[in-house]
Amino acid sequence: DWNMPDYIEEAVHKIREQVGDEDVILGLSGGVDSSVAAALIHRAIGDQLTCVFVDHGLLRLNEGRMVMEMFAGRLHAKVVHVDASGQFMGHLKGVTDPEQKRKIIGREFVEVFQAEARKLPNAKWLAQGTIYPDVIESGGAKSKKAHTIKSHHNVGGLPETLGLKLLEPLRDLFKDEVRELGVALGLPHDMVYRHPFPGPGLGVRILGEVKHEYADLLRRADAIFIDELRAADWYDKTSQAFAVFLPVKSVGVMGDGRTYEYVVALRAVETQDFMTAHWAELPHSLLGKVSNRIINEVRGINRVVYDISGKPPATIEWE
Ligand code: XMP
Repeated sequence: DWNMPDYIEEAVHKIREQVGDEDVILGLSGGVDSSVAAALIHRAIGDQLTCVFVDHGLLRLNEGRMVMEMFAGRLHAKVVHVDASGQFMGHLKGVTDPEQKRKIIGREFVEVFQAEARKLPNAKWLAQGTIYPDVIESGGAKSKKAHTIKSHHNVGGLPETLGLKLLEPLRDLFKDEVRELGVALGLPHDMVYRHPFPGPGLGVRILGEVKHEYADLLRRADAIFIDELRAADWYDKTSQAFAVFLPVKSVGVMGDGRTYEYVVALRAVETQDFMTAHWAELPHSLLGKVSNRIINEVRGINRVVYDISGKPPATIEWE
């Protein structure tokens, strides 16, 4: 039982006391945790905080614009928007192995972030949106994949390399408390209640080699799916929903001719802890609408399928 305005006041006080007049740098991903951490720290120290938003070219449609509008536009926070898509795509060229792709994306992320951090010699602190479940998780046993997730998400090793102190103002909070805090800090509901999105982004939702063309098609298909889920009030009933790009061509008809175009799979799951998950029993009419829209609006995709696999044995992501 806690009182939000009091909590914010106390947290703000603590952050000010901790950092004094030193500067803070934070990697903004657009996800819930880093967004709430950024809003809280900005409330506490204003322009002493610089957020770095790395666009690896594997973000969702309009994601970069929305993050900039919110943090730079509405909150008037200092945000450096780094368009590193060329660099990421370059390094991913020809790479098909999922773990290899994760490694490359994680490594490039650290590289880009470090380069930005070095441009801010007055920054003495690295802020991270670590929340309580992350703290417990890093103490206990975990799978190799979970470890990879952590090391990418919380940019492991970065504070040491950069000689920065760690600022983790959400360390004591559970996810629902983080969300409440975000709303109290003025972040929009849709941002704070967003489904989780993996650090490697669309990089693990494009099966096999990642190409710019595939990412563009996937972004548009995914946006249609999410739009329709929201419109039908299904977004909040699912824990995670997204489209996956399958780099295979199947036959279709258009007018008198045949087409050979790509396939998109839709995935929507319900889960408590993401360790096990059920596929969401979305209404057929909703699935039909999404399929029609994708095929009509996204030239290059002529087939849409729905993933009805549970976890286990399937995972939530396709890679
Ligand atoms: P799976 O596919 O293992 O996913 O059932 C479980 C949850 O973890 C997310 N996930 C990732 N998150 N980096 C991340 O930050 C990753 O490499 C990664 N792989 C999977 C996935 O979206 C789901 O929420």
